[in-house]
Amino acid sequence: MPSVVVVGASRGIGRELVRQYAGDGWQVFATVRTADGGLGQGITELIADVTDEASLTAAAAALPAAVDLLVLNAGVGSREAGLATLDAGRWPEVMATNALGPLLAARAIGGHVRDGGMIVALSSTLGSIGANTGGGLYSYRMSKAALNAGIKTLAIELKPRRIAVAALHPGWVKTDMGGAGAEVEVGDSVAGLRRVIAGLTPDKTGVFVDYRGNALPW
Ligand SMILES: NC(=O)c1ccc[n+]([C@@H]2O[C@H](COP(=O)([O-])OP(=O)(O)OC[C@H]3O[C@@H](n4cnc5c(N)ncnc54)[C@H](OP(=O)(O)O)[C@@H]3O)[C@@H](O)[C@H]2O)c1
Repeated sequence: MPSVVVVGASRGIGRELVRQYAGDGWQVFATVRTADGGLGQGITELIADVTDEASLTAAAAALPAAVDLLVLNAGVGSREAGLATLDAGRWPEVMATNALGPLLAARAIGGHVRDGGMIVALSSTLGSIGANTGGGLYSYRMSKAALNAGIKTLAIELKPRRIAVAALHPGWVKTDMGGAGAEVEVGDSVAGLRRVIAGLTPDKTGVFVDYRGNALPW
């Protein structure tokens, strides 16, 4: 039975990922910040906050030696329209959660990903420098651009273990973060993400793609 760890699975895309993988018979490990108990049958709940390395290490200790897939999903949004509304007070939280947090999780849990396995991070087109035509959302854009740099670097570091590493854009999804006016249903986004993940190979590592499989500019 294939196995997956989803980091940040209490709601939204993370919760739908664990629901769909469990529904397909995968062994599922799901981290949440606050004990939930209701994630679903066959889903092992672990407590971790990506800004708290000790909690990640403790969660990793409960994992089997060799999982197939690690999904770094945890993230927070930001709302700055422009420089005038840049919120310096919130900046550390956005960077710590979206940029550093996934790498801390990869460090704590990556040793449990089998050689030839996969690590993917939920990034965003808003983290693309090449595709930035809209502006705004400084801290979110910068945190995801930093995440992308980290993911590309991780892909290089993990090549000797033939672990495929990718940054994924889920679409603009109807979740707490995406809002009710978003374009994509969470079930459709996750079905697409799972198709993309299933197509990853060690030779296709270090890519940035959307939930439909389209390559994105960094
Ligand atoms: N929705 C979109 O349109 C969209 C578009 C592009 C990219 N993304 C990315 O996709 C990912 C999931 O987004 P979503 O729409 O599902 O967001 P969401 O509904 O707001 O859910 C965010 C998830 O991240 C968790 N989280 C936040 N901070 C955390 C921390 N410090 N440690 C551990 N978990 C933490 C939350 O847990 P709590 O319940 O404990 O807060 C929650 O499970 C994010 O990385 C987001 O940036 C989303």
